[in-house]
Amino acid sequence: CGIIGYIGARESQNILANGLGKLEYRGYDSAGIAVCDGECIQTEKTVGRLDNLQEKLIESPKQGSLGIGHTRWATHGRPSNENSHPHTDEETEFAVVHNGIIENYLDVKEELIADGVTFTSETDSEVIAHLFSKLYDGEMISTIQKVVQKLKGAYALGVVTKNDPDTLYAVRQASPLIVGVGEDENFISSDIPALLEHTRDMLILEDGEIAVLKREGVSLLDLETANPIERDVFKVDWDMEQAEKNGFDHFMLKEIFEQPNALQKTMTGRFDEESNKVDFQELDWTADKVNNWNKIYIVACGTAYHAGLIGQNAIEELTRIPVSVEIASEFRYRRPIIDENTLVIVVSQSGETADTLAALRQSQKVGAEVLGITNVVGSSIAREADNVILTMAGPEIAVASTKAYTTQVLSFYLLGAYVAQMKEMISDEYREQLVKGIQAIPSQIEEGLEHTKGLQWYAESIKDSKSVFFLGRGLDHAVALEGSLKLKEISYIHSEAYAAGELKHGTLALIEEGTPVIALATQDEVYEKMLGNIEEVKARGAQVMGVATEGNMKIYQYVDETCYIPATLSLLTPLLSVVPLQIISYYTALALGKDIDKPRNLAKSVTVE
Ligand code: G6P
Repeated sequence: CGIIGYIGARESQNILANGLGKLEYRGYDSAGIAVCDGECIQTEKTVGRLDNLQEKLIESPKQGSLGIGHTRWATHGRPSNENSHPHTDEETEFAVVHNGIIENYLDVKEELIADGVTFTSETDSEVIAHLFSKLYDGEMISTIQKVVQKLKGAYALGVVTKNDPDTLYAVRQASPLIVGVGEDENFISSDIPALLEHTRDMLILEDGEIAVLKREGVSLLDLETANPIERDVFKVDWDMEQAEKNGFDHFMLKEIFEQPNALQKTMTGRFDEESNKVDFQELDWTADKVNNWNKIYIVACGTAYHAGLIGQNAIEELTRIPVSVEIASEFRYRRPIIDENTLVIVVSQSGETADTLAALRQSQKVGAEVLGITNVVGSSIAREADNVILTMAGPEIAVASTKAYTTQVLSFYLLGAYVAQMKEMISDEYREQLVKGIQAIPSQIEEGLEHTKGLQWYAESIKDSKSVFFLGRGLDHAVALEGSLKLKEISYIHSEAYAAGELKHGTLALIEEGTPVIALATQDEVYEKMLGNIEEVKARGAQVMGVATEGNMKIYQYVDETCYIPATLSLLTPLLSVVPLQIISYYTALALGKDIDKPRNLAKSVTVE
């Protein structure tokens, strides 16, 4: 979910609605605002996209220069007008927007119902508004303290009350919240881009802190003691333009085309000019520390997890340290065997994914060294990890991740080489080959992106299929998983990715006459084996698109269509082979008229567990 809040001299309605437009990627099944005009609070909220809310606001504008807004990704309670935020108490004295999950809300709700409170929604969040009303003692800070004492779970809250119509309150525990500091006006938001049109001066609210926003200034207080906290504002130096569509029909396509540049930026400054060795000046690792690691965990969710699978291959290959890759929501609950000799790498585009962040904290607790790979400066993971590698993909807006994925993969190659250098396990010759290969990738992707017509036709041809399979071995299997995820998340076509040698142990039963199969065959060591697996599906009627490296002519005889990627080291092919798969997904979803940047049921940043 996304939160926005405003206090200043201007009318707040449109500022809130525009801000929500920028936060829509965090959830978009309903939206709402609450505005206080000094005497009363008026709310407008509605299920569906923000446009619905905008229409209602045109019909019945809300006046007032203090307000909060919310765009929702449903967790407790289906998307509906009633379940949309802001939530208010019965007398509409308080209005609250909430991002996160209140785990004990049923207990609190029971208590409140026993006290005679009537609920109008099925959400966990509504309890907060009623708690404010019940516990209000004439002073907001002490009331906030009492309210949050009753709550278990994660929250970022924006609160307005007509009892104190010149103040906007915010408090956070485990969900992100930013304060934007303007001139005679101040803001809260779930992220930085939503505020950039108003100010570049930001304060990051930490867990266990309250922000008190007046028109003339902002103060931060410790939640427990109410003591003031000093914090310098930081200036954001990147531009909103980077987050706009720039002539492309969708953010996803724009972001696919931005990959050469994003990769270039991510590698810039990471090679020593003289020796051409990989150089991560930002990491404080000593050779002693690195030599102590006997195990590495890579922990992430979604696409970042798929990048981790490539990372596993790269790090094991280059350093011979055993690597496990884990889905964060699984890792946390199964008592993983980690200690001070383990390196835990958490990967997250947003740096805010709740399960990934929890895995980071859990690992630190038992003494493991934690490295964060993230795309967002100032995010929770960037702040809390012991060391951070920033991917330089720039803001990624489409829910389906593309440039964040490739920059994460690149970071793993660089990291693998770096650790191998420290452990003196890589020959100069191989390192030079690897570095040369990496440096050529941006222009090789660019080259591939010049010829996407064939892929568009192919996408048209599979758009009515009931199921699409992606096959590969080794690194190709990891890429197949990502290709399959891209296709299902934006086109809603069922798809599976399989280790090509494993298909015959069950899933082959699903291949029928005409079933599309995308077979990746870029790995030299298993090329012949892969051709055998292609034959197995062809023999059952599959329509096969082969993805192979240029010059590999043999595959022609086995498949119906071929997509060639430029030649590179086997280890580096994922950076090139994933791109046609992204393009195929994009054009399939386009041909089906799907909402590409905002697929149903999903959200870009998932800050609930
Ligand atoms: C959501 C997004 C995915 C993303 C995953 C992890 O589910 O829809 O695209 O891969 O979260 O996000 P993170 O920000 O941690 O990389």
